[in-house]
Amino acid sequence: MSTTVYVPRDTTALACGAEAVARAIGTQAKARGLDVSVVRNGSRGLYWLEPLVEVVTPNGRVGYGPVTEDAVVGLFEAGFLDGAAHALAHGVVDDIPYLASQQRLCFSRNGIIDPLDLDDYQAHGGWKGLLRAVMLSPEAIVQNVLDSGLRGRGGAAFPAGVKWKTVLGAQADQKYIVCNADEGDSGTFSDRMVFEGDPYRLIEGMTIAGIATGATMGYVYLRCEYPLAFRLFREAIERARAAGWIGADIKGSGHAFELEVRLGAGAYICGEETSLLESLEGKRGQVRFKPPLPALKGLFGKPTVINNVITLASVPDILAHGAEWYRDYGVARSRGTLPIQLAGNIKRGGLVERAFGLSLRELLYDYGGGSASGRPIRAVQVGGPLGAYLPESQFDTPIDYEAFAAISAMVGHGGIVVFDDSVDMAEQARFAMEFCAIESCGKCTPCRIGSTRGVEVIDRIRASLDRDNNTALLRSLCDTMSNGSLCALGGLTPFPVLSAKNHFAEDFAPRVASSVK
Ligand SMILES: Cc1cc2nc3c(=O)[nH]c(=O)nc-3n(C[C@H](O)[C@H](O)[C@H](O)COP(=O)(O)O)c2cc1C
Ligand code: SF4
Repeated sequence: MSTTVYVPRDTTALACGAEAVARAIGTQAKARGLDVSVVRNGSRGLYWLEPLVEVVTPNGRVGYGPVTEDAVVGLFEAGFLDGAAHALAHGVVDDIPYLASQQRLCFSRNGIIDPLDLDDYQAHGGWKGLLRAVMLSPEAIVQNVLDSGLRGRGGAAFPAGVKWKTVLGAQADQKYIVCNADEGDSGTFSDRMVFEGDPYRLIEGMTIAGIATGATMGYVYLRCEYPLAFRLFREAIERARAAGWIGADIKGSGHAFELEVRLGAGAYICGEETSLLESLEGKRGQVRFKPPLPALKGLFGKPTVINNVITLASVPDILAHGAEWYRDYGVARSRGTLPIQLAGNIKRGGLVERAFGLSLRELLYDYGGGSASGRPIRAVQVGGPLGAYLPESQFDTPIDYEAFAAISAMVGHGGIVVFDDSVDMAEQARFAMEFCAIESCGKCTPCRIGSTRGVEVIDRIRASLDRDNNTALLRSLCDTMSNGSLCALGGLTPFPVLSAKNHFAEDFAPRVASSVK
């Protein structure tokens, strides 16, 4: 009888040696005359255990990790194909507390299925949302998304249904669905996991968005740093088209939707929606003035839905299970679940999908297990490079868009980067300002000039040169950037800068003048 063994083909797992592990398992099985079928799945998102090898047993899928190439012989000798005990064994993967306590909606299939296998996708609930959508009117689909309370997961948390409604109501000979897969925020990887672990989910979500708004063409704008995701997704598009899930007549429904993927060249600002559209059109990625909104005049001047990967990938389940089912997760105006990404100095980094409302502390300690270095966690940055640095006193803040806004922070794309007590927060403030200076698209003065002057002012404060005046100048500069920038890159950079200054003032204490950079 054949035994099925899963070895992830996910960028992180591969970086940890998964390819060599898969090869060694195949070689050992052959040498021992054992019938083993190795399936390359996506990652479950328990990254500290990668490569996490799973063996199908009558009791469930038993996990071993992190497995090295050298450990493979020992695993065979211990009888891992029967789920036997071993120093690397973790029992049934679904029962590992990190996973068992999550509420996986968007990531329900990640690590479980063979990502490109259409039958596996359908056997695990795939296409149900699309099959329901083709039975509904566009207005009814949009109403479902509105009622679900789904807000954009790319950063701004704008209600997805409102955007879709605007595009549906716009009159045009062509409309577009654009998926923002630039995923530029520090410590984030959930978009990538969708591409590498459950790509048909995104195809399904985009197709539903097309049917709902009258858009017949979709583009995915993917960052070039994700070559594996690119290859897998292109293959997924081919297979979905061949099976009739996209194309001129989706499963005989009369609806048409085509899909292409484009690679960005790697600029943070190209994640901002209007720069992204410029870049997709083949121009330099620079921010457009708004209005007009992309929903009315977007890609090639046509009405365009632009949504993040996770937003679009959340839609199939909303259609399949109903808006209320989705809405039942979460708190206040933050409905559904958020795939949170734990990164930086953290013992158990990975993906935690939970309904909104759990606290940062639960994430950092119950899931993350504290810092990887074993030192106290001093600060976390949530929401990417434009997010505030939060001190321990704010770790009880619930993950909820409004609760974060109330402490001048943002949830963003759900990335959390952890720092222990060896961090120099003045250096982090400088880094945030310098990041803005480097990544600025240059269109508006507060950001283009302000960020460069900001780095100089922070350097003077750190060098104790005329501290009081320079501190006042920094605050005034941040005020100008917040209120005068054309987009959120310049507008939000004061968040990390001032949060570092306000919460970690001791790190800005006098230093010798030679530290000026
Ligand atoms: C500087 C900057 C970078 C951004 N980067 C991303 C990104 O990498 N991915 C993303 O989905 N949204 C990003 N956004 C947000 C987008 O502008 C936009 O709000 C989002 O694509 C809308 O989709 P959503 O409503 O589904 O979140 C960025 C915004 C700014 C200002
Ligand atoms: S804030 Fe910065 S990135 Fe945004 S438009 Fe102005 S110069 Fe460009």
